Amino acid sequence: ARTAAVIPAAGRGVRLGPGAPKALRPLSGTPMLVHAVRAMAGSRAVSLVVVVAPPDGADEVQRLLDAYPLTGTTEVVVVPGGETRQESVRLGLAAVPDSVTTVLVHDAARPLVPVDTVDAVVAAVRDGSPAVVPALPVTDTVKRVEPRTGDRAGEPEPVVGTPERALLRAVQTPQGFDRATLAAAHEKIVLEGDGATDDAGMVERMGVEVVVVPGHEEAFKVTRPLDLVLAEAVLARRRK
Ligand code: CTP
Ligand code: MG
Repeated sequence: ARTAAVIPAAGRGVRLGPGAPKALRPLSGTPMLVHAVRAMAGSRAVSLVVVVAPPDGADEVQRLLDAYPLTGTTEVVVVPGGETRQESVRLGLAAVPDSVTTVLVHDAARPLVPVDTVDAVVAAVRDGSPAVVPALPVTDTVKRVEPRTGDRAGEPEPVVGTPERALLRAVQTPQGFDRATLAAAHEKIVLEGDGATDDAGMVERMGVEVVVVPGHEEAFKVTRPLDLVLAEAVLARRRK
């Protein structure tokens, strides 16, 4: 029962603002990707980490990771990614050997996920759930809107619905899968445009049950500049 973690890290980080690819930017002096790799390797279950680098950046990412060697026995390999997250995950999965039965998919942009959350996801997959996602209750009320595009871009958007907040969960990563289930989803499910932002959603579309386990506040995604401030504050608190 080998477990591997695929870390999609090929995004540019447009919402974070201009600069290096998001995963390579420093958090308290250490690249975000290094934090994420350590978070996966910190789980005793994880014996292989596949890092999916920007399409033209695999050599640079390999050199970067060589500069931050892991202390344990976890193997790390780097592969080039694609234009969308879905494509990057597919390319990462292709580098996972057949001997692996459980696959985690973890955003490089969630560098601070605690090891207990990783372990809880792995345990739920090993207990028989083919797809497991860590999630937290939503704190903001969420509205569905009709987006304004083209000539009407910038106009106020009409609200078309308000889902009951108590029934909503905000999902995080690592998401854990039976390897064959995730591989089948990536073979069969083709989404237009930006592709899937969430692997579990692809498994849902195949009619396979996805379950939720408790997520963690520190598994938040670094997306916008304020998230960098929060992440560095979390690291400072851990060092106390
Ligand atoms: N990702 C990827 N390949 C892509 C796009 C995204 O591997 N073509 C990865 C990102 O590196 C990140 C994760 O998917 O670790 C989650 O995506 P997101 O937070 O949207 O990161 P970016 O796409 O880099 O950011 P933005 O959307 O602001 O450009
Ligand atoms: Mg993105």
